[in-house]
Amino acid sequence: MKFTSLTFISSLFLAATTVQAKTWLLPIPQSVEWTGHAAPLSHRFTIRGGDNNKHVRKAAKRYTDLIFKERWVKVQVDYEKETLESSKDALTSLDIIVDDNKALLDYGIDESYSLEIPQQGGKATLSAPTWVGALRGLETFSQLVEADHGNKKKLIAHTVSITDAPSYPHRGVSFDTSRNYFPVEDILRTLDAMSYNKMNVLHWHATDAQSWPLESKSHPELSINGAYSAHEVYGPKQVKQVLDHAESLGIRVVLEIDMPAHTGIIAETYPDYIIGYHEFWAKYAPEPPAGQIDLLNEDAWEMVKDLVKEGTETFPDSFYHTGGDEINAACYELDENIVNYTKEHNMTTHELWFDWTNKLVDYVTNDLKKRPIVWEDPIRDGGSLPENVVVQVWTAPPQNYTSKGHDVIVSNSDYFYLDCGNGGWVGNDPRYISPTQQATPDDIFNYGGTGGSWCAPYHTWQRMYTFDPTYGIPEDSPGKIIGGEVCMWNEQGGPTVLDSKLWPRSGAAAELWWSGGYDKEGERRTVRQLQPRILDWNYRLVSRGIAAQPLQPLWCLRHPERCDLEDPAEAKD
Ligand SMILES: *[C@@H]1O[C@H](CO)[C@@H](O)[C@H](O)[C@H]1NC(C)=O
Ligand SMILES: *[C@@H]1O[C@H](CO)[C@@H](O)[C@H](O)[C@H]1NC(C)=O
Ligand SMILES: *[C@@H]1O[C@H](CO)[C@@H](O)[C@H](O)[C@H]1NC(C)=O
Repeated sequence: MKFTSLTFISSLFLAATTVQAKTWLLPIPQSVEWTGHAAPLSHRFTIRGGDNNKHVRKAAKRYTDLIFKERWVKVQVDYEKETLESSKDALTSLDIIVDDNKALLDYGIDESYSLEIPQQGGKATLSAPTWVGALRGLETFSQLVEADHGNKKKLIAHTVSITDAPSYPHRGVSFDTSRNYFPVEDILRTLDAMSYNKMNVLHWHATDAQSWPLESKSHPELSINGAYSAHEVYGPKQVKQVLDHAESLGIRVVLEIDMPAHTGIIAETYPDYIIGYHEFWAKYAPEPPAGQIDLLNEDAWEMVKDLVKEGTETFPDSFYHTGGDEINAACYELDENIVNYTKEHNMTTHELWFDWTNKLVDYVTNDLKKRPIVWEDPIRDGGSLPENVVVQVWTAPPQNYTSKGHDVIVSNSDYFYLDCGNGGWVGNDPRYISPTQQATPDDIFNYGGTGGSWCAPYHTWQRMYTFDPTYGIPEDSPGKIIGGEVCMWNEQGGPTVLDSKLWPRSGAAAELWWSGGYDKEGERRTVRQLQPRILDWNYRLVSRGIAAQPLQPLWCLRHPERCDLEDPAEAKD
Protein backbone atom coordinates (compact mmCIF):
# COMPACT_ATOMS: atom_id res chain seq x y z
CA MET A 1 0.00 0.00 0.00
CA LYS A 2 2.68 2.42 1.01
CA PHE A 3 4.66 1.63 -2.09
CA THR A 4 1.67 2.22 -4.34
CA SER A 5 0.69 5.52 -2.80
CA LEU A 6 4.22 6.91 -2.93
CA THR A 7 4.51 5.92 -6.55
CA PHE A 8 1.19 7.52 -7.22
CA ILE A 9 2.17 10.80 -5.58
CA SER A 10 5.53 11.15 -7.26
CA SER A 11 4.23 10.22 -10.68
CA LEU A 12 1.46 12.77 -10.29
CA PHE A 13 3.92 15.54 -9.65
CA LEU A 14 6.39 14.53 -12.28
CA ALA A 15 3.71 14.33 -14.90
CA ALA A 16 1.78 17.46 -14.08
CA THR A 17 4.67 19.52 -12.65
CA THR A 18 2.23 20.75 -10.11
CA VAL A 19 2.34 20.76 -6.36
CA GLN A 20 -0.26 20.83 -3.68
CA ALA A 21 -1.73 24.25 -3.36
CA LYS A 22 -1.25 25.32 0.21
CA THR A 23 1.20 25.08 3.01
CA TRP A 24 -0.07 24.64 6.50
CA LEU A 25 0.39 27.99 8.21
CA LEU A 26 0.28 28.26 11.99
CA PRO A 27 -0.94 30.54 13.39
CA ILE A 28 -3.22 31.27 10.46
CA PRO A 29 -2.72 34.86 9.26
CA GLN A 30 -5.61 37.30 9.44
CA SER A 31 -5.81 37.43 5.66
CA VAL A 32 -4.32 34.94 3.19
CA GLU A 33 -4.95 35.10 -0.53
CA TRP A 34 -3.41 32.17 -2.33
CA THR A 35 -2.68 33.16 -5.87
CA GLY A 36 -2.56 29.68 -7.30
CA HIS A 37 1.10 29.42 -8.21
CA ALA A 38 4.31 28.12 -6.77
CA ALA A 39 7.60 29.82 -7.51
CA PRO A 40 10.79 27.78 -7.50
CA LEU A 41 13.40 29.31 -5.25
CA SER A 42 16.40 30.42 -7.25
CA HIS A 43 19.58 28.77 -5.99
CA ARG A 44 20.81 32.34 -5.50
CA PHE A 45 17.74 33.19 -3.42
CA THR A 46 18.51 35.70 -0.68
CA ILE A 47 16.67 37.56 2.04
CA ARG A 48 17.69 41.22 1.84
CA GLY A 49 17.06 44.55 3.46
CA GLY A 50 17.07 43.75 7.15
CA ASP A 51 20.43 45.38 7.71
CA ASN A 52 19.27 48.29 9.83
CA ASN A 53 18.27 46.12 12.71
CA LYS A 54 20.61 43.48 14.05
CA HIS A 55 17.79 41.14 15.02
CA VAL A 56 16.23 41.25 11.56
CA ARG A 57 19.65 40.86 9.96
CA LYS A 58 20.36 37.78 12.04
CA ALA A 59 16.85 36.43 11.49
CA ALA A 60 17.26 36.80 7.71
CA LYS A 61 20.36 34.63 7.90
CA ARG A 62 18.74 32.20 10.33
CA TYR A 63 15.61 31.76 8.24
CA THR A 64 17.61 31.40 5.02
CA ASP A 65 19.57 28.60 6.65
CA LEU A 66 16.39 27.07 8.06
CA ILE A 67 14.58 27.07 4.73
CA PHE A 68 17.46 25.37 2.92
CA LYS A 69 18.02 22.91 5.73
CA GLU A 70 14.38 22.13 6.48
CA ARG A 71 13.25 21.31 2.89
CA TRP A 72 9.85 20.71 4.32
CA VAL A 73 7.71 17.95 2.88
CA LYS A 74 4.20 18.09 4.23
CA VAL A 75 3.18 15.14 6.37
CA GLN A 76 -0.49 16.06 6.52
CA VAL A 77 -2.06 15.22 3.18
CA ASP A 78 -4.38 17.88 1.76
CA TYR A 79 -8.10 17.52 2.41
CA GLU A 80 -8.94 18.63 -1.08
CA LYS A 81 -6.71 17.95 -4.01
CA GLU A 82 -5.72 21.21 -5.65
CA THR A 83 -3.03 21.73 -8.19
CA LEU A 84 -1.32 24.90 -9.16
CA GLU A 85 0.84 26.41 -11.85
CA SER A 86 4.53 27.05 -11.76
CA SER A 87 5.41 30.74 -11.65
CA LYS A 88 7.04 32.18 -14.75
CA ASP A 89 10.23 33.15 -12.92
CA ALA A 90 12.13 31.78 -10.00
CA LEU A 91 11.95 33.63 -6.71
CA THR A 92 15.23 35.49 -6.38
CA SER A 93 14.77 37.41 -3.15
CA LEU A 94 12.65 38.32 -0.22
CA ASP A 95 13.05 42.05 0.33
CA ILE A 96 12.35 43.32 3.82
CA ILE A 97 11.12 46.84 4.37
CA VAL A 98 10.89 48.00 7.98
CA ASP A 99 9.68 51.47 8.94
CA ASP A 100 10.85 51.53 12.53
CA ASN A 101 13.99 49.61 13.34
CA LYS A 102 14.35 51.12 16.80
CA ALA A 103 10.90 50.44 18.22
CA LEU A 104 11.11 49.35 21.84
CA LEU A 105 10.15 45.74 22.37
CA ASP A 106 7.40 46.06 24.95
CA TYR A 107 3.71 45.55 25.54
CA GLY A 108 1.66 46.58 22.52
CA ILE A 109 4.53 46.89 20.01
CA ASP A 110 3.24 46.70 16.44
CA GLU A 111 3.82 43.14 15.20
CA SER A 112 1.91 43.47 11.95
CA TYR A 113 3.40 42.74 8.56
CA SER A 114 2.41 42.10 4.99
CA LEU A 115 3.97 39.56 2.71
CA GLU A 116 3.71 39.45 -1.07
CA ILE A 117 5.05 36.56 -3.08
CA PRO A 118 4.10 37.54 -6.62
CA GLN A 119 2.36 35.05 -8.83
CA GLN A 120 5.00 35.41 -11.54
CA GLY A 121 7.92 34.88 -9.13
CA GLY A 122 10.81 37.35 -9.02
CA LYS A 123 11.02 39.38 -5.84
CA ALA A 124 8.93 38.80 -2.76
CA THR A 125 8.35 41.64 -0.33
CA LEU A 126 7.92 41.67 3.42
CA SER A 127 6.83 45.04 4.83
CA ALA A 128 6.43 45.78 8.49
CA PRO A 129 5.98 48.88 10.61
CA THR A 130 8.53 47.55 13.13
CA TRP A 131 11.43 45.12 13.24
CA VAL A 132 9.31 42.73 15.31
CA GLY A 133 6.71 42.58 12.55
CA ALA A 134 9.52 41.65 10.17
CA LEU A 135 10.46 38.73 12.45
CA ARG A 136 6.84 37.53 12.44
CA GLY A 137 6.71 37.80 8.65
CA LEU A 138 9.95 35.86 8.25
CA GLU A 139 8.45 33.01 10.23
CA THR A 140 5.42 33.01 7.96
CA PHE A 141 7.65 33.08 4.90
CA SER A 142 9.53 30.03 6.14
CA GLN A 143 6.23 28.18 6.46
CA LEU A 144 5.39 28.99 2.82
CA VAL A 145 8.49 27.27 1.50
CA GLU A 146 8.65 23.56 0.97
CA ALA A 147 10.52 21.01 -1.06
CA ASP A 148 9.24 20.46 -4.55
CA HIS A 149 7.46 17.14 -4.34
CA GLY A 150 8.75 16.11 -7.76
CA ASN A 151 12.35 17.05 -7.05
CA LYS A 152 13.26 17.41 -3.40
CA LYS A 153 16.49 19.16 -4.25
CA LYS A 154 14.39 22.11 -5.35
CA LEU A 155 12.47 24.42 -3.07
CA ILE A 156 9.29 26.19 -3.95
CA ALA A 157 7.44 29.06 -2.34
CA HIS A 158 3.70 29.36 -2.59
CA THR A 159 2.67 32.62 -4.14
CA VAL A 160 0.43 34.48 -1.81
CA SER A 161 -0.66 37.81 -0.48
CA ILE A 162 -0.80 37.99 3.30
CA THR A 163 -1.68 40.75 5.70
CA ASP A 164 -1.37 39.85 9.30
CA ALA A 165 -1.37 41.24 12.82
CA PRO A 166 -2.02 39.73 16.22
CA SER A 167 -5.49 39.85 17.68
CA TYR A 168 -4.07 40.08 21.23
CA PRO A 169 -0.84 41.76 22.30
CA HIS A 170 0.10 39.29 25.07
CA ARG A 171 0.70 35.67 24.00
CA GLY A 172 2.81 33.81 26.46
CA VAL A 173 4.24 30.79 28.12
CA SER A 174 4.44 30.85 31.89
CA PHE A 175 7.48 28.83 32.86
CA ASP A 176 8.11 27.54 36.39
CA THR A 177 11.80 27.00 37.09
CA SER A 178 11.49 26.36 40.82
CA ARG A 179 9.79 22.98 41.20
CA ASN A 180 12.43 21.47 39.00
CA TYR A 181 15.40 23.16 37.43
CA PHE A 182 15.90 23.66 33.69
CA PRO A 183 19.30 24.36 32.19
CA VAL A 184 19.30 27.61 30.27
CA GLU A 185 19.44 25.70 26.93
CA ASP A 186 15.93 24.43 27.61
CA ILE A 187 14.67 27.96 28.09
CA LEU A 188 16.44 29.14 24.93
CA ARG A 189 14.94 26.26 22.93
CA THR A 190 11.51 27.08 24.32
CA LEU A 191 11.98 30.65 23.14
CA ASP A 192 12.77 29.33 19.66
CA ALA A 193 9.62 27.23 19.69
CA MET A 194 7.60 30.20 20.92
CA SER A 195 8.89 32.31 18.04
CA TYR A 196 7.83 29.62 15.54
CA ASN A 197 4.37 29.97 17.04
CA LYS A 198 4.51 33.81 17.12
CA MET A 199 4.26 33.85 20.91
CA ASN A 200 5.80 36.94 22.41
CA VAL A 201 5.97 36.71 26.21
CA LEU A 202 8.03 34.45 28.42
CA HIS A 203 6.51 34.80 31.88
CA TRP A 204 9.34 33.54 34.01
CA HIS A 205 7.95 32.12 37.24
CA ALA A 206 11.47 32.03 38.58
CA THR A 207 11.04 31.14 42.23
CA ASP A 208 8.61 29.20 44.37
CA ALA A 209 8.39 27.31 47.65
CA GLN A 210 10.69 24.46 46.68
CA SER A 211 13.81 26.15 45.32
CA TRP A 212 15.26 29.58 44.66
CA PRO A 213 17.31 29.28 41.47
CA LEU A 214 17.44 33.00 40.63
CA GLU A 215 20.65 34.63 41.82
CA SER A 216 20.14 38.07 43.29
CA LYS A 217 22.84 40.72 43.58
CA SER A 218 21.24 42.23 46.65
CA HIS A 219 20.48 38.87 48.28
CA PRO A 220 22.84 36.20 46.93
CA GLU A 221 22.25 34.16 50.08
CA LEU A 222 18.77 33.20 48.82
CA SER A 223 20.08 31.09 45.94
CA ILE A 224 23.15 29.96 47.89
CA ASN A 225 20.81 28.39 50.44
CA GLY A 226 17.76 27.89 48.26
CA ALA A 227 18.89 26.55 44.89
CA TYR A 228 18.89 22.78 44.48
CA SER A 229 22.65 22.96 43.96
CA ALA A 230 25.31 25.49 43.11
CA HIS A 231 24.89 24.46 39.47
CA GLU A 232 21.14 24.86 39.40
CA VAL A 233 21.21 28.63 39.47
CA TYR A 234 20.39 31.38 36.98
CA GLY A 235 23.20 33.85 37.49
CA PRO A 236 23.60 37.17 35.66
CA LYS A 237 25.14 35.36 32.68
CA GLN A 238 22.23 32.96 32.24
CA VAL A 239 19.64 35.68 32.78
CA LYS A 240 21.35 37.78 30.12
CA GLN A 241 21.40 34.80 27.75
CA VAL A 242 17.65 34.42 28.18
CA LEU A 243 16.97 38.15 27.82
CA ASP A 244 19.20 38.52 24.77
CA HIS A 245 17.85 35.47 23.00
CA ALA A 246 14.28 36.48 23.75
CA GLU A 247 14.85 39.99 22.43
CA SER A 248 16.42 38.66 19.25
CA LEU A 249 13.16 36.77 18.65
CA GLY A 250 10.88 39.65 19.57
CA ILE A 251 9.88 37.99 22.83
CA ARG A 252 9.43 39.94 26.06
CA VAL A 253 10.48 38.40 29.34
CA VAL A 254 8.29 39.21 32.34
CA LEU A 255 9.74 38.18 35.67
CA GLU A 256 7.63 36.84 38.49
CA ILE A 257 8.95 36.38 41.99
CA ASP A 258 5.86 34.87 43.53
CA MET A 259 5.02 36.20 47.01
CA PRO A 260 3.90 36.31 49.81
CA ALA A 261 2.89 32.62 49.50
CA HIS A 262 5.01 30.18 47.50
CA THR A 263 8.11 31.39 49.30
CA GLY A 264 8.86 28.64 51.84
CA ILE A 265 12.43 28.14 50.67
CA ILE A 266 13.40 31.62 51.90
CA ALA A 267 13.16 30.13 55.40
CA GLU A 268 16.38 28.20 54.69
CA THR A 269 18.09 31.58 54.85
CA TYR A 270 15.75 33.74 56.92
CA PRO A 271 13.62 31.59 59.24
CA ASP A 272 12.10 34.73 60.81
CA TYR A 273 10.75 36.04 57.52
CA ILE A 274 8.64 32.98 56.76
CA ILE A 275 5.71 31.51 58.65
CA GLY A 276 4.89 27.81 58.43
CA TYR A 277 7.83 26.32 56.50
CA HIS A 278 8.49 23.63 59.06
CA GLU A 279 4.87 22.61 59.47
CA PHE A 280 3.54 19.64 57.56
CA TRP A 281 2.08 21.28 54.46
CA ALA A 282 -1.45 19.87 54.19
CA LYS A 283 -3.29 22.42 56.38
CA TYR A 284 -1.14 25.38 55.44
CA ALA A 285 -0.47 25.34 51.72
CA PRO A 286 -1.86 23.89 48.49
CA GLU A 287 1.22 21.75 48.09
CA PRO A 288 4.42 21.00 49.99
CA PRO A 289 6.26 22.83 51.38
CA ALA A 290 4.20 25.46 53.24
CA GLY A 291 5.57 28.90 54.06
CA GLN A 292 4.42 32.49 53.59
CA ILE A 293 6.24 35.77 54.07
CA ASP A 294 5.55 37.37 57.45
CA LEU A 295 3.47 40.37 56.45
CA LEU A 296 4.39 42.28 59.61
CA ASN A 297 8.13 41.73 59.50
CA GLU A 298 9.82 44.97 58.44
CA ASP A 299 13.10 43.27 57.54
CA ALA A 300 11.21 40.84 55.31
CA TRP A 301 9.52 43.80 53.63
CA GLU A 302 12.91 45.44 53.01
CA MET A 303 14.11 42.22 51.38
CA VAL A 304 10.95 42.07 49.26
CA LYS A 305 11.59 45.64 48.10
CA ASP A 306 15.23 44.83 47.25
CA LEU A 307 14.25 41.77 45.22
CA VAL A 308 11.46 43.49 43.36
CA LYS A 309 13.58 46.58 42.64
CA GLU A 310 16.38 44.42 41.33
CA GLY A 311 13.95 42.32 39.29
CA THR A 312 12.45 45.39 37.65
CA GLU A 313 15.92 46.71 36.87
CA THR A 314 17.32 43.47 35.45
CA PHE A 315 14.24 42.75 33.33
CA PRO A 316 13.59 45.73 31.06
CA ASP A 317 9.93 44.98 30.35
CA SER A 318 7.39 47.54 31.52
CA PHE A 319 5.37 44.75 33.16
CA TYR A 320 6.42 43.09 36.38
CA HIS A 321 4.62 40.11 37.91
CA THR A 322 4.23 40.39 41.68
CA GLY A 323 2.76 36.90 42.12
CA GLY A 324 0.11 36.82 44.83
CA ASP A 325 -1.63 33.47 44.50
CA GLU A 326 -2.91 30.94 47.00
CA ILE A 327 -2.64 32.63 50.36
CA ASN A 328 -3.54 30.33 53.21
CA ALA A 329 -5.18 32.00 56.22
CA ALA A 330 -4.48 29.07 58.55
CA CYS A 331 -0.78 29.45 57.85
CA TYR A 332 -0.82 33.05 59.05
CA GLU A 333 -2.78 32.03 62.12
CA LEU A 334 0.24 30.01 63.22
CA ASP A 335 1.87 33.32 64.06
CA GLU A 336 0.86 34.89 67.35
CA ASN A 337 2.01 38.30 66.30
CA ILE A 338 -0.25 38.29 63.26
CA VAL A 339 -3.16 36.93 65.29
CA ASN A 340 -2.74 39.71 67.86
CA TYR A 341 -2.33 42.36 65.22
CA THR A 342 -5.42 41.36 63.27
CA LYS A 343 -7.43 41.22 66.51
CA GLU A 344 -6.22 44.65 67.59
CA HIS A 345 -7.03 46.09 64.18
CA ASN A 346 -10.30 44.20 63.88
CA MET A 347 -9.27 42.73 60.54
CA THR A 348 -8.92 39.30 58.97
CA THR A 349 -5.58 37.83 57.89
CA HIS A 350 -6.92 38.15 54.35
CA GLU A 351 -7.36 41.89 54.83
CA LEU A 352 -3.81 42.09 56.12
CA TRP A 353 -2.71 40.29 52.98
CA PHE A 354 -4.75 42.64 50.75
CA ASP A 355 -3.08 45.65 52.40
CA TRP A 356 0.35 44.13 51.90
CA THR A 357 -0.43 43.40 48.23
CA ASN A 358 -1.60 46.96 47.73
CA LYS A 359 1.62 48.21 49.33
CA LEU A 360 3.58 46.03 46.91
CA VAL A 361 1.72 47.06 43.75
CA ASP A 362 1.95 50.68 44.85
CA TYR A 363 5.72 50.28 45.19
CA VAL A 364 5.95 48.68 41.73
CA THR A 365 3.71 51.29 40.09
CA ASN A 366 4.85 54.47 41.77
CA ASP A 367 8.45 53.89 42.85
CA LEU A 368 9.62 51.48 40.17
CA LYS A 369 7.36 52.79 37.37
CA LYS A 370 6.31 49.38 36.15
CA ARG A 371 2.87 47.95 35.51
CA PRO A 372 2.13 45.17 37.99
CA ILE A 373 0.56 41.86 37.08
CA VAL A 374 -1.04 39.97 39.97
CA TRP A 375 -2.62 36.54 40.07
CA GLU A 376 -6.35 37.01 40.56
CA ASP A 377 -6.47 35.73 44.15
CA PRO A 378 -6.39 38.96 46.18
CA ILE A 379 -9.37 40.28 44.23
CA ARG A 380 -11.21 36.98 43.99
CA ASP A 381 -10.87 36.50 47.74
CA GLY A 382 -12.38 39.88 48.56
CA GLY A 383 -9.73 42.56 48.17
CA SER A 384 -9.39 45.22 45.53
CA LEU A 385 -6.44 46.60 43.63
CA PRO A 386 -5.93 49.74 41.53
CA GLU A 387 -7.27 49.49 37.99
CA ASN A 388 -3.85 49.70 36.35
CA VAL A 389 -3.01 46.28 37.80
CA VAL A 390 -3.19 43.54 35.19
CA VAL A 391 -4.93 40.44 36.53
CA GLN A 392 -3.83 36.98 35.53
CA VAL A 393 -6.74 34.56 35.91
CA TRP A 394 -6.43 30.89 36.66
CA THR A 395 -9.76 30.03 38.32
CA ALA A 396 -12.49 32.61 37.71
CA PRO A 397 -14.02 33.68 34.41
CA PRO A 398 -12.06 36.65 32.99
CA GLN A 399 -15.15 38.87 33.08
CA ASN A 400 -15.00 38.83 36.88
CA TYR A 401 -12.03 41.20 36.53
CA THR A 402 -12.55 42.98 33.22
CA SER A 403 -15.86 44.15 34.69
CA LYS A 404 -13.88 45.80 37.49
CA GLY A 405 -11.69 47.66 35.01
CA HIS A 406 -8.68 45.36 35.03
CA ASP A 407 -6.95 44.17 31.93
CA VAL A 408 -6.72 40.41 32.05
CA ILE A 409 -4.28 37.71 31.00
CA VAL A 410 -6.22 34.48 30.52
CA SER A 411 -4.64 31.31 31.83
CA ASN A 412 -7.59 29.45 33.29
CA SER A 413 -6.40 26.15 34.67
CA ASP A 414 -9.30 24.26 33.08
CA TYR A 415 -8.03 25.23 29.64
CA PHE A 416 -4.43 26.36 29.71
CA TYR A 417 -2.57 24.54 32.50
CA LEU A 418 -0.19 22.05 30.99
CA ASP A 419 0.36 20.05 34.17
CA CYS A 420 -3.22 18.81 34.40
CA GLY A 421 -4.14 15.18 33.89
CA ASN A 422 -0.74 13.86 34.79
CA GLY A 423 -1.89 12.02 37.91
CA GLY A 424 -0.93 12.94 41.43
CA TRP A 425 2.50 13.61 42.81
CA VAL A 426 2.10 13.80 46.59
CA GLY A 427 3.54 10.74 48.24
CA ASN A 428 2.00 7.71 49.92
CA ASP A 429 -1.49 8.26 48.55
CA PRO A 430 -3.84 5.35 49.45
CA ARG A 431 -6.53 6.50 47.05
CA TYR A 432 -4.92 4.48 44.30
CA ILE A 433 -6.04 1.29 46.03
CA SER A 434 -9.24 0.14 44.41
CA PRO A 435 -11.15 -2.23 46.73
CA THR A 436 -12.54 -4.43 43.97
CA GLN A 437 -10.15 -3.46 41.19
CA GLN A 438 -13.03 -2.42 39.04
CA ALA A 439 -15.38 0.52 38.68
CA THR A 440 -17.67 0.71 41.69
CA PRO A 441 -19.34 3.57 43.53
CA ASP A 442 -16.57 3.15 46.14
CA ASP A 443 -13.91 4.13 43.73
CA ILE A 444 -14.56 7.32 41.88
CA PHE A 445 -10.90 8.24 42.12
CA ASN A 446 -9.40 5.73 39.71
CA TYR A 447 -12.51 5.19 37.58
CA GLY A 448 -13.70 8.32 35.84
CA GLY A 449 -12.02 10.43 38.51
CA THR A 450 -9.01 12.68 38.63
CA GLY A 451 -6.50 9.92 39.33
CA GLY A 452 -4.81 12.34 41.70
CA SER A 453 -4.36 15.26 39.33
CA TRP A 454 -5.73 18.40 40.99
CA CYS A 455 -6.92 19.78 37.66
CA ALA A 456 -7.61 16.71 35.51
CA PRO A 457 -8.22 16.09 32.70
CA TYR A 458 -5.26 16.76 30.45
CA HIS A 459 -5.95 19.79 28.28
CA THR A 460 -5.63 18.93 24.64
CA TRP A 461 -5.02 21.34 21.79
CA GLN A 462 -8.73 21.10 21.00
CA ARG A 463 -9.65 22.14 24.51
CA MET A 464 -7.39 25.17 24.35
CA TYR A 465 -8.56 26.16 20.90
CA THR A 466 -12.23 26.15 21.81
CA PHE A 467 -11.77 28.84 24.46
CA ASP A 468 -13.70 31.92 23.33
CA PRO A 469 -11.94 35.05 24.61
CA THR A 470 -14.96 37.21 23.90
CA TYR A 471 -17.38 35.10 25.93
CA GLY A 472 -19.09 37.11 28.65
CA ILE A 473 -17.18 40.31 27.89
CA PRO A 474 -19.41 43.13 26.67
CA GLU A 475 -18.17 45.56 24.00
CA ASP A 476 -18.02 48.39 26.51
CA SER A 477 -16.19 46.39 29.17
CA PRO A 478 -14.04 48.72 31.28
CA GLY A 479 -11.16 46.24 31.28
CA LYS A 480 -10.12 44.07 28.38
CA ILE A 481 -8.53 40.73 27.63
CA ILE A 482 -4.96 41.46 26.58
CA GLY A 483 -4.15 37.85 25.75
CA GLY A 484 -3.29 34.61 27.41
CA GLU A 485 -0.63 32.25 28.62
CA VAL A 486 -0.22 28.52 28.77
CA CYS A 487 1.22 27.56 32.14
CA MET A 488 4.07 25.12 32.38
CA TRP A 489 4.03 24.14 36.07
CA ASN A 490 6.82 21.74 36.72
CA GLU A 491 6.10 19.63 39.78
CA GLN A 492 6.22 16.74 37.31
CA GLY A 493 8.02 18.61 34.58
CA GLY A 494 11.67 18.70 33.73
CA PRO A 495 14.05 18.98 30.80
CA THR A 496 13.29 15.47 29.50
CA VAL A 497 9.56 16.09 29.09
CA LEU A 498 9.45 19.84 28.57
CA ASP A 499 8.95 19.91 24.80
CA SER A 500 6.33 17.20 24.71
CA LYS A 501 4.28 18.85 27.46
CA LEU A 502 4.39 22.18 25.66
CA TRP A 503 4.23 21.29 21.99
CA PRO A 504 2.51 21.16 19.66
CA ARG A 505 -0.65 21.76 21.76
CA SER A 506 0.45 25.23 22.87
CA GLY A 507 0.37 26.08 19.17
CA ALA A 508 -3.42 26.00 19.49
CA ALA A 509 -3.25 28.63 22.22
CA ALA A 510 -0.71 30.57 20.16
CA GLU A 511 -3.11 30.64 17.24
CA LEU A 512 -6.07 31.54 19.45
CA TRP A 513 -4.26 34.61 20.75
CA TRP A 514 -2.61 35.58 17.48
CA SER A 515 -5.42 34.89 15.01
CA GLY A 516 -8.29 35.40 17.45
CA GLY A 517 -11.30 33.21 18.09
CA TYR A 518 -13.10 34.61 15.03
CA ASP A 519 -12.00 35.11 11.42
CA LYS A 520 -12.31 38.35 9.49
CA GLU A 521 -15.85 37.45 8.43
CA GLY A 522 -16.75 37.14 12.08
CA GLU A 523 -17.00 33.35 11.95
CA ARG A 524 -15.85 31.32 14.90
CA ARG A 525 -12.65 29.46 14.12
CA THR A 526 -13.03 25.70 14.49
CA VAL A 527 -10.84 22.78 15.51
CA ARG A 528 -11.56 21.35 12.09
CA GLN A 529 -9.75 24.31 10.52
CA LEU A 530 -6.77 24.03 12.82
CA GLN A 531 -6.60 20.24 12.69
CA PRO A 532 -4.58 19.60 9.51
CA ARG A 533 -2.30 22.53 10.27
CA ILE A 534 -1.45 21.53 13.84
CA LEU A 535 -1.04 17.88 12.86
CA ASP A 536 1.54 18.88 10.27
CA TRP A 537 3.03 21.48 12.61
CA ASN A 538 3.86 18.76 15.11
CA TYR A 539 6.21 17.13 12.61
CA ARG A 540 7.61 20.43 11.46
CA LEU A 541 8.47 21.41 15.05
CA VAL A 542 10.21 18.06 15.45
CA SER A 543 12.24 18.75 12.33
CA ARG A 544 13.23 22.06 13.92
CA GLY A 545 14.57 20.32 17.00
CA ILE A 546 11.53 20.52 19.28
CA ALA A 547 10.64 17.13 20.76
CA ALA A 548 6.90 17.61 20.24
CA GLN A 549 4.38 14.91 21.01
CA PRO A 550 2.44 13.08 18.28
CA LEU A 551 -1.25 13.95 18.25
CA GLN A 552 -2.50 11.08 16.09
CA PRO A 553 -1.20 7.97 14.40
CA LEU A 554 0.60 8.92 11.21
CA TRP A 555 -2.02 6.97 9.27
CA CYS A 556 -4.55 9.69 10.11
CA LEU A 557 -2.43 12.43 8.54
CA ARG A 558 -2.16 10.31 5.42
CA HIS A 559 -5.90 9.72 5.33
CA PRO A 560 -7.56 13.08 5.89
CA GLU A 561 -10.70 13.06 8.00
CA ARG A 562 -10.73 9.27 8.25
CA CYS A 563 -9.86 9.52 11.96
CA ASP A 564 -12.56 12.07 12.76
CA LEU A 565 -15.22 11.39 15.37
CA GLU A 566 -17.93 11.51 12.77
CA ASP A 567 -17.84 10.39 9.19
CA PRO A 568 -17.41 13.70 7.32
CA ALA A 569 -19.66 12.37 4.55
CA GLU A 570 -22.47 12.22 7.09
CA ALA A 571 -21.56 15.14 9.36
CA LYS A 572 -23.95 18.05 9.21
CA ASP A 573 -21.10 20.57 9.83
C1 LIG B 1 -0.43 38.35 71.93
O1 LIG B 1 -1.41 38.80 72.81
C2 LIG B 1 -1.43 38.06 74.03
C3 LIG B 1 -2.62 38.53 74.84
O2 LIG B 1 -2.64 39.94 74.90
C4 LIG B 1 -0.11 38.29 74.76
O3 LIG B 1 -0.07 37.55 75.93
C5 LIG B 1 1.02 37.82 73.87
O4 LIG B 1 2.27 38.09 74.44
C6 LIG B 1 0.94 38.50 72.51
N1 LIG B 1 1.92 37.90 71.63
C7 LIG B 1 2.78 38.61 70.92
C8 LIG B 1 3.73 37.82 70.08
O5 LIG B 1 2.83 39.81 70.93
C1 LIG C 1 -15.01 45.05 63.38
O1 LIG C 1 -15.28 44.94 62.00
C2 LIG C 1 -16.57 44.49 61.69
C3 LIG C 1 -16.63 44.21 60.20
O2 LIG C 1 -16.06 45.26 59.49
C4 LIG C 1 -17.57 45.54 62.17
O3 LIG C 1 -18.87 45.10 61.88
C5 LIG C 1 -17.39 45.73 63.66
O4 LIG C 1 -18.22 46.78 64.11
C6 LIG C 1 -15.96 46.07 64.00
N1 LIG C 1 -15.77 46.06 65.44
C7 LIG C 1 -15.17 47.03 66.07
C8 LIG C 1 -15.06 46.87 67.55
O5 LIG C 1 -14.75 48.04 65.50
C1 LIG D 1 -17.11 35.29 39.43
O1 LIG D 1 -18.14 36.22 39.59
C2 LIG D 1 -19.42 35.65 39.87
C3 LIG D 1 -20.45 36.78 39.84
O2 LIG D 1 -20.05 37.80 40.70
C4 LIG D 1 -19.34 34.94 41.20
O3 LIG D 1 -20.59 34.34 41.51
C5 LIG D 1 -18.28 33.87 41.12
O4 LIG D 1 -18.13 33.26 42.38
C6 LIG D 1 -16.95 34.47 40.69
N1 LIG D 1 -16.03 33.38 40.47
C7 LIG D 1 -14.95 33.21 41.24
C8 LIG D 1 -14.16 31.96 40.99
O5 LIG D 1 -14.58 34.03 42.06
